Amino acid sequence: MAWYENFFDDWYLKYWIQPITQQRTNNEVDAIIDYLKINNDSNILDLCCGQGRHSLELARRGFKNVNGLDLSETLLGFSKESAKKENLAINFIQGDMRDIPASLYDGIFNFYTAFGYFEKDEENQAVLDAVGRALKPGGYFLLDYPLLEGRMGPWQNQEFFEYEDGTVMLHEMIHNVFDQEIVNKVLYITKDNLRHRTGFTLRHYYGRELRKCLRKAGMEVVATFGSLEGNPLTARDRRVLIQARKIAEPDSSK
Ligand SMILES: C[S@@+](CC[C@H](N)C(=O)[O-])C[C@H]1O[C@@H](n2cnc3c(N)ncnc32)[C@H](O)[C@@H]1O
Repeated sequence: MAWYENFFDDWYLKYWIQPITQQRTNNEVDAIIDYLKINNDSNILDLCCGQGRHSLELARRGFKNVNGLDLSETLLGFSKESAKKENLAINFIQGDMRDIPASLYDGIFNFYTAFGYFEKDEENQAVLDAVGRALKPGGYFLLDYPLLEGRMGPWQNQEFFEYEDGTVMLHEMIHNVFDQEIVNKVLYITKDNLRHRTGFTLRHYYGRELRKCLRKAGMEVVATFGSLEGNPLTARDRRVLIQARKIAEPDSSK
C-alpha cells in the first residue's frame, strides 16, 4: 500500500489537522477567493479537501457550488458530518487526485501540501494534467506548496510536539538531495505509552521545474507569492502560493 492510503487516518485528523486554527483557515480562504477570482456562483474544486476546512468556510460565506475531492474515507467522513451539522450543501467526492471526475470548474485549489505524493514523476504530472482538463478555459488554479528552494540551507530535520492530551509526536525529515524527496518518519507516543509509527514521502520540485509541469498541463504561472497576503516570493520563504491559469488543453489530451 502507498503511504498516502494509510497516513490520513484518525491520528492525522486529531494531531495534524484539528490543531489548525479557524483564523488560519479564514486567511487561507480570503486568499483562495482573491487569487482564484471566484464569486458565489463559481464552480469550485477543493482538490484533496481533507477534513473540508476550506470547503466548509467557502460554503459558510455563500459559495453555492463547492466540491471537495479526497481519497481518505476517514477525512471525508468528518467533512460530510461537519457539513451536515451546519446544514451546508457541499459535494464531497471520494476519489484520486489524478482522476478528477468530468466537470468544468472556474477555480481549483490544492492546499497544505497535497502535491508531490507519487513516486513517479509521471504520476505527479497526471495530477496537474487532471487539473488542466477539469478547468474551464481561463480558469485559475492555486497551489500552496513547499518549494525545494525553501528547503535548502540549514534546516531543522527533527520536530517534537506535545499535545494537550499528553501525546507526543516525533517527526524526523530525511532529505534525499539527489532525488529531490523528503522522507518523513513520524512516531506518536500517547500518555498510556501506545506507540504508532507512520510517515510520508514528498517529491519536492524547484520552481522552474514546476512551471514546466504546469505548462505541460495547459496552465501558465500568473504569479507566485511568499505569503497569503501576496508578498513576493524570496529564497527565505518555506512555502509558495502559485497562481496559474488555464491557457490550453494538457499535452496528454491532444
Ligand atoms: C496534507 S492534507 C491537506 C488537506 C486539506 N487540503 C487541508 O488544507 O487541510 C492532504 C490530503 O490529500 C489527501 N490525499 C492523499 N492522497 C490522495 C490521492 N491520491 N487522491 C486524493 N486525495 C489524496 C489526503 O487524504 C489528505 O486529505
